[in-house]
Amino acid sequence: MALQLGDEAPDFTAETTEGKIQFHNWIGNGWAVLFSHPKDFTPVCTTELGRVAALKPEFEKRGVKVIGLSVDPLGSHKEWSKDIQDVTGSSPNFPLIADSDRKVASLYNMIHPNANDTLTVRSVFVIGPDKKIKLTLTYPASTGRNFDELLRVIDSLQLTAKHKVATPSDWKHGQDVIIVPSLSDDDAKKQFPAGWKTLKPYLRVVPQPK
Ligand code: BEZ
Repeated sequence: MALQLGDEAPDFTAETTEGKIQFHNWIGNGWAVLFSHPKDFTPVCTTELGRVAALKPEFEKRGVKVIGLSVDPLGSHKEWSKDIQDVTGSSPNFPLIADSDRKVASLYNMIHPNANDTLTVRSVFVIGPDKKIKLTLTYPASTGRNFDELLRVIDSLQLTAKHKVATPSDWKHGQDVIIVPSLSDDDAKKQFPAGWKTLKPYLRVVPQPK
């Protein structure tokens, strides 16, 4: 069965461009993003990996480690990294899993046979410090991902893990948020003593908590 939100992220050992890892140990006490790409030496993937490398400081700021994966071997990942540097100006500065035997791709259902029976799709898993899956995304090979959106979602996941709030459509860090409907007005008064704006009884808006 496909992995679902709240499931434990399967643990595994794998060879990567930065050595052998045991996934849960590698994650440590922070957050992680595990993402797959279909194939090395392909155009969209080249742009994606360069973009992730350029955004590494943004992931680090949020306490998030990033790790990529495809079914290509280690030598191919390393050779391709030079092209990624040439084209995007950034070389992968995070580990890439060489999953030639598809062990990790199978654990995480990254091969969708009706799309392609040998290559991984563009999967993303955001994993929390408790090793539980907080977010999944699946994009086809033809569509490169928006990694700014991934950072935006991580901001929301981290904020809502800490406070009894949810984030509205198109929310960005720093903007007003919504008090979760399960919090009574009496309890909300304790957590948000400066008050809130009630647009509907179920839609209470507050400034983003720190
Ligand atoms: C790409 O990254 O451009 C790509 C990879 C696999 C299939 C199609 C496109």
